[in-house]
Amino acid sequence: MFVRLSDGREIPLESHKVRIVQKTALAPAAERLSAMREAGFNTFLLKSRDVFLDMLTDSGTNAMSDVQLAAMMVSDDAYAGSESFEKLVAAVRDVFGYSHVLPVHQGRAAEHLLARLFVKPGDAVPMNYHFTTTRAHFEMAGGEVLELFGPHALDTESDLPFKGNMDTARLEALVRERGAARVAFVRMEATTNLIGGQPFSLENLRAVRAIAAAHGIPVVLDASLISENAYLIRQREPAERSRSIAEIIREIMSLSDIMYLSGRKSCSVRGGLIATSDPAVYAKILPWLPVFEGFATYGGMSTKEIEAMAVGIREMTDSDVAGSSVELIRYLVGRLVARGVPALTPAGGLGCHVDAHKFLPHLGSGSYPAGALAAAIFLCSGVRSMERGTISMERAPDGREVPSDLELARLAVPRRVYTVSHMDYVADRLAWLHARRDLVGGLAFVEEPPVLRFFFGRLRAEGDWPERLVGEFRKEFGESV
Ligand code: F0G
Repeated sequence: MFVRLSDGREIPLESHKVRIVQKTALAPAAERLSAMREAGFNTFLLKSRDVFLDMLTDSGTNAMSDVQLAAMMVSDDAYAGSESFEKLVAAVRDVFGYSHVLPVHQGRAAEHLLARLFVKPGDAVPMNYHFTTTRAHFEMAGGEVLELFGPHALDTESDLPFKGNMDTARLEALVRERGAARVAFVRMEATTNLIGGQPFSLENLRAVRAIAAAHGIPVVLDASLISENAYLIRQREPAERSRSIAEIIREIMSLSDIMYLSGRKSCSVRGGLIATSDPAVYAKILPWLPVFEGFATYGGMSTKEIEAMAVGIREMTDSDVAGSSVELIRYLVGRLVARGVPALTPAGGLGCHVDAHKFLPHLGSGSYPAGALAAAIFLCSGVRSMERGTISMERAPDGREVPSDLELARLAVPRRVYTVSHMDYVADRLAWLHARRDLVGGLAFVEEPPVLRFFFGRLRAEGDWPERLVGEFRKEFGESV
């Protein structure tokens, strides 16, 4: 919920009580500098104990509800035929409208199975935008990932409500050129992660579905952030304003043939699943489930998580749950923009994304501006963000860097974990950093893994800018913070 106070200020109002807390501590800047050095200037390699606000991701880091926690206490740990799984199937049927469910240990496991079984070498796999693990799996299967976003999807300063839309003219052209038989499926990602958690509209999904159906091409939905996409549809799509989140989610699902999700996001658990109402699709995947994941009634998930997921799926249809992070993100983005920080607009469904090209215009993509910005944010705040730029791309086969479309430092907002004062703190430290952006220099690789290098890569600072930045910070705020 977003409320207007009598002094005119608008704030997100949490629709939950905090009943369990976890201690977090703000280490002084000098200690943050040592921690960042030890982590090879890669925020993935920081230790959680050195982090004050962990905004690396909203994946598996959300606050669970009391009802979810209670459900975990009554799980049925049977290897086969678990009752917990039956509750999950019922939730998927009631909320999403699919009859068949294949549990997997997390979202990328679903991508692995779909890539292995539905993507043939040379196939085109059109999508609104890729996600890192998605691209890795589909390309390993020999597919060609094609991103058919609209002309302004990559504008970081925008008021376009649906930058996650697919360009339907580009989809039609692709099907004409390649032939429907060479298109594995059309993938739509609910709130496109890498371009700022931007939603697609229902109108767009209906149009994509119509084109795909006319050519017999299946639509695959990545529903990891489905409730946030539905919430933003209700907020931004005039024709959908009076519908419930449940109705919007149900219609999105009805327009997709296969749905998969990471349960670590909208569902507020850890795990994943694939769902479909097509018995042939189910039968094709089922035999492989025990090979890679586990038996059909747990798929590598703990039955406790399955219980909590069944509850999470029902709870996400509550507008207060669906909007819990969206409204906090909107608030944070608003604060940043008001202070001149180039946060990506409009605010999306996953976190606040800061445009590192605009923040650090003096750094070229070869100096990894988004990685440098993520490191600098940590140094001056203890807030852990994530690089979503060139470091998150793979090199070309000949070793050349492939500059990312966007250089973003992503401050994810886990659901129901942080408060308005936390967001005020983040906005303040980013504004302070922005005013001293000239102090921030680039990064260079020291150790570079061959795949998904952003996870384990180690880098060094080009020059002594981290020391100078921390020196400046301590001059202003003292030794203790
Ligand atoms: N699809 C989307 C849209 C995602 O955001 C993610 C994960 C996955 C698939 C893979 O799911 O992690 O359960 O295997 N996103 C996380 C993030 C990692 O930080 O954005 P997973």
